[in-house]
Amino acid sequence: MASDLRVSLTDRCNLRCSYCMPAEGLAWLPTEETLTDDEVVRLVTIGVEHLGIREVRFTGGEPLLRRGLADIVARTKALRPSPEVSLTTNALGLSRTAHALAAAGLDRVNVSLDTIRRDVFEQITRRDRLDDVLAGLAAAQREGIVPVKVNAVLLRGINDQYAAELLGFCLEHDYQLRIIEQMPLDAQHGWTREAMVTADEVFTSLEKEFVLTPDPEHRGSAPAETFLVDGGPAKVGVIASITRPFCGSCDRVRLTADGQVRNCLFAREESDLRTALRGTATDEEIAAQWRLAMLTKRPGHGIDDKSFLQPARSMSAIGG
Ligand code: GTP
Ligand code: 5AD
Ligand code: SF4
Repeated sequence: MASDLRVSLTDRCNLRCSYCMPAEGLAWLPTEETLTDDEVVRLVTIGVEHLGIREVRFTGGEPLLRRGLADIVARTKALRPSPEVSLTTNALGLSRTAHALAAAGLDRVNVSLDTIRRDVFEQITRRDRLDDVLAGLAAAQREGIVPVKVNAVLLRGINDQYAAELLGFCLEHDYQLRIIEQMPLDAQHGWTREAMVTADEVFTSLEKEFVLTPDPEHRGSAPAETFLVDGGPAKVGVIASITRPFCGSCDRVRLTADGQVRNCLFAREESDLRTALRGTATDEEIAAQWRLAMLTKRPGHGIDDKSFLQPARSMSAIGG
């Protein structure tokens, strides 16, 4: 059974990254379909107490848009055994909320940042908000929500030529950069294998400026393969879902903001826990339904199969 739970707290976002969402946004989930804070905490509790969940990551859309976030984090940390709690965020507004999140027990944070160039940032995200992200990163570190990791998706001809610059910035600030191969999860279905910047291309460009050596630390089930930069201790990661898939060691399960269990990022089926939750089901019954949903997990994402179909939900509604 999976031990790492990723919970999407909202499908909304205040950026419009071109590899994720169309400029006009998407049809957001209606409020009544979105789990309440109490419902989220009940499901997380079932995960921890009945299913062996040991790590909980809150995602979105943009999880900082969820008003009850700090409270949800605190109630998750209070479970026994207390799970590691992390956030994947675009960091807009994090400079204001980092203190409360640290006090709630948030352990660490991963921040999406594809470039430190203001014009390129605006081109990718369609919003002029680079300064807010940089302030959010600094606040997380100041509050001890560490390690701070930076997630970057490279787009050919837009920001891929600045990968080494971004790594330099991360090294300077002690953030751990991870470069991600773009996956076919955008709502616009614009992904092509040819346009995707591969892990090998990333190495070639980074190695012009840095010496990268394999990280001796055990990778475990992490999507990121890490390398020591210039002998360490600083590291850089590559999340090569397409050219070096890691499905074999996957230990994740996902919960959408409307209470559906997904046994894979690319799953085409979901199991509806919200209906059970709002009915008369006991915790044991919900745990049994959740366990059953995990049994149908496929061995891999199948992106290379001719029959591959993108899931109906796109990235921002799954939470990465
Ligand atoms: P750490 O625990 O800090 O290593 O987190 P993470 O890298 O697993 O999570 P994060 O939310 O920062 O996601 C980084 C990238 O990895 C995003 O593009 C995710 O979509 C991708 N990712 C996370 N989990 C999976 C997975 O199970 N399969 C695939 N293919 N990609 C994943
Ligand atoms: N492929 C790979 N990563 C993506 N992200 C968003 N869309 C995609 C995609 N199509 C990343 C974001 C964020 C994380 C949750 O997923 O940059 O850091
Ligand atoms: Fe928002 Fe993240 Fe999607 Fe960008 S990638 S639009 S920050 S959900």
